[in-house]
Amino acid sequence: MSYQGKFRVWRGDDSGGALEDFTVEVNEGEVVLDIIHRLQATQAPDLAVRWNCKAGKCGSCSAEINGRPRLLCMTRMSVFEESETITVTPMRTFPIIRDLVTDVSFNYTKAREVPSFAPPKDLAPGEYRMQQVDVERSQEFRKCIECFLCQNTCHVVRDHEENKEAFSGPRFLMRVAELEMHPLDTADRVDQAQDDHGLGYCNITKCCSEVCPEHIHITDNALIPMKERVADRKYDPIVWLGNKLFRR
Ligand code: SF4
Ligand code: F3S
Ligand code: FES
Repeated sequence: MSYQGKFRVWRGDDSGGALEDFTVEVNEGEVVLDIIHRLQATQAPDLAVRWNCKAGKCGSCSAEINGRPRLLCMTRMSVFEESETITVTPMRTFPIIRDLVTDVSFNYTKAREVPSFAPPKDLAPGEYRMQQVDVERSQEFRKCIECFLCQNTCHVVRDHEENKEAFSGPRFLMRVAELEMHPLDTADRVDQAQDDHGLGYCNITKCCSEVCPEHIHITDNALIPMKERVADRKYDPIVWLGNKLFRR
């Protein structure tokens, strides 16, 4: 069973662009990425799209479908009406390279700003011991495929270019939380989260968690626990006094 579907795809580069209309064959069982590939093969050979696994695991094919941040390869055509016009646009938060491809280097910059795992100096690799419960806690965060849909969605940077310097975004605040919850990490991640990665900008709207294709509870399991740790330190009078007396 196939039909002729109506699509509107953004085409252009960093100097500007516009939505272009196409009619493309749709077959049973296909996903939006199949349509984009058919469009390339039949009508627009120079259409730029980034993809790799077509299995929801490489995180490359992030875009916006009818304005919603989605993976192109995991969005089934069967969720749309046959008569519907489907609009495909690049992620809005990152600079355009061409067509559906954006420059996501903002995320690599933020990744580099998170100091790496810092195990105790007297423990050699191979001597690490952890409880299963601690392993499981970070396993959820480790499912991240770095699609950056959460980074694209968070309103702190989506509508505010000026916040990008101070705010690392949900994916990297989650990384800080993962390290903070790691029983063998010796670094102080609480002040880092607040002062260096802009945790205070997050007002827990949870849009990041809603778009995560791995269904990671970014807000509930990473961001809110980090906020609680910040609050404990900053507003607990004993901790506050200790900080005043013993920390510079
Ligand atoms: Fe993508 Fe989820 Fe990872 Fe964010 S946390 S980059 S939405 S997989
Ligand atoms: Fe942004 Fe997620 Fe916080 S969308 S505001 S990082 S809960
Ligand atoms: Fe790999 Fe879509 S192509 S996640």
